[in-house]
Amino acid sequence: MPHKVSLTRLKLSDFRNYAALSLDLDTRHVVLTGENGAGKTNLMEAVSFLSPGRGLRRAAYADVARVGAETGFSVFAELEGMDGPVEIGTGTAGADEGQTRRLRLNGTTAKTVDELLDHLRVLWLTPAMDGLFTGGSGDRRRFLDRLVLSLDPEHGRRATDYERAMRSRNKLLSEGRPDPVWLTGLERQMAELGIAMALARQEMLGLLAGLVDRNHEGGVFPAADLALSGFLDGEWHRPAFDLEEQYLEMMKNGRYRDAAAGHALDGPHRSDLLIRHRAKNMEAARARPANRRRFLSA
Ligand SMILES: Nc1ncnc2c1ncn2[C@@H]1O[C@H](COP(=O)(O)OP(=O)(O)OP(=O)(O)O)[C@@H](O)[C@H]1O
Ligand SMILES: [Mg+2]
Repeated sequence: MPHKVSLTRLKLSDFRNYAALSLDLDTRHVVLTGENGAGKTNLMEAVSFLSPGRGLRRAAYADVARVGAETGFSVFAELEGMDGPVEIGTGTAGADEGQTRRLRLNGTTAKTVDELLDHLRVLWLTPAMDGLFTGGSGDRRRFLDRLVLSLDPEHGRRATDYERAMRSRNKLLSEGRPDPVWLTGLERQMAELGIAMALARQEMLGLLAGLVDRNHEGGVFPAADLALSGFLDGEWHRPAFDLEEQYLEMMKNGRYRDAAAGHALDGPHRSDLLIRHRAKNMEAARARPANRRRFLSA
């Protein structure tokens, strides 16, 4: 049985406005109150560094380190994790030029920050994410991918590898007379990774749809219908292999067009998450901001 995850201690050094902080917690909920600029969001940001990525502000690490700090920031946490008690240390203190974030688990250096996902999964919803509905599709994809990552730790690696293969293909196409063997190899990588990514997203949408159906009876939140659009729409009932072949074919046929555009026009990197208010059959983007937030929490 997985444990219920709780953070029992949080220690910061040279993190944002905190030169040093040590906070003892228990399993109860935490409410932070304080003046504007007191450092409430900074604390949440520190907690968000207990998951892979750049945290809830997606800030450059250099901005996270306290102004005037001699070296980078560090976040230390003790928690009751999914796999039992664990001590997590992370930050840029002592790392090369503050560009990378180091991770130690129970005092041992971890190979990648992804190892955090064995112990806890962190999700956040901030007022800034109101733009989730009105902003670009990239924010919505990232939000969905973070949800997927909370179930499937491989998702992040696949997305990174997919992006890398796609960048190599873009570059190759821009060179004119690209080596067809190399090009096909990259496209095959993109097809395998891209379809796996897209299927994991579809699975997440299925879980969310089930959750919405179970919760909306008598609930206070409006029921939402979720769908992904923009890539192989209506095809997702087919076997993964067929989808890979189809995507491969699309890329092959799209080479000239992609070369002219300077980037790949088809793929899971173009999918958009569509959210509709079920009863009103209205897109969430058109709802009032307060309702959008309720949508998100639903
Ligand atoms: N790298 C840094 N070094 C030192 N201080 C920083 C750094 N980055 C941000 N700060 C300070 O952190 C403060 C902002 O903290 P934070 O955003 O957590 O406030 P808050 O309590 O959430 O406020 P609000 O109620 O307005 O949301 C500001 O005073 C800012 O100057
Ligand atoms: Mg704040």
